[in-house]
Amino acid sequence: MQHPAAAEYTYASHVCYEKSSIVKNSAWDLSQYNALSFWDFCSLQFHEAIVSAKHPFHIATVSTISSNGDPRSRSVVLRHFDSNTHEIAFHTDIRSPKLKDLRNCRTACLHWYNPALRVQIRLIASATAHHQDSRAEQAWHASRTTSRACYGTPSPPGTTMTQFPAAPTIPDLDDHSGYAHFVVVVCHFEELDVLALHASGHQRVLLSLKHDKVSWSIIAP
Ligand SMILES: Cc1cc2nc3c(=O)[nH]c(=O)nc-3n(C[C@H](O)[C@H](O)[C@H](O)COP(=O)(O)O)c2cc1C
Repeated sequence: MQHPAAAEYTYASHVCYEKSSIVKNSAWDLSQYNALSFWDFCSLQFHEAIVSAKHPFHIATVSTISSNGDPRSRSVVLRHFDSNTHEIAFHTDIRSPKLKDLRNCRTACLHWYNPALRVQIRLIASATAHHQDSRAEQAWHASRTTSRACYGTPSPPGTTMTQFPAAPTIPDLDDHSGYAHFVVVVCHFEELDVLALHASGHQRVLLSLKHDKVSWSIIAP
């Protein structure tokens, strides 16, 4: 049986991503785009990454700064993307160290690298934690019971234990006891740094969403 935490992290694996024609397993050629069409392309990728666990960007590395100034990175599952507001969101436990970091400094860095595509994406975001508000409530109701199981555990993430814990029990649909720990972290960003590796010459752009008109700069890789 699958560990509920594994289900939490791969819950969208039922989506037949292989059938999608959006991402081909070849490097991105940025010279095919202008700033706007590239933003549309990236938006499509993020939308796909939300719904499919097999999408190369379904898992992001999120880095935060701890109160003593140390950087800390970890993997998270992308849960929501909004191309109009430039927001990307993940779910976490309010008791987790990353939430403490974000209380101390709300700036986070999100990073993806896909070796098959040979593409790296990086963005700096301002993170907002939604806990027990309408956004959290909506996301909680949309989440699966296998995902909710992770939030009902008695030991906060990072607690020292004497042995590996048993898989948390999957709660009934009307069991909302994990909701107290459930947080939606919404990351607002205004720039994307995209690097595509090519033997013929690497391509790197800084895509800016700061103004009404999407713009980009080609930068040295
Ligand atoms: C593939 C994968 C996906 C993960 N997704 C999440 C997630 O969406 N939310 C989360 O809080 N932790 C997730 N984790 C666990 C975190 O990476 C991390 O170990 C845990 O949340 C504790 O992080 P912290 O101590 O930095 O707060 C995931 C781990 C892996 C390996």
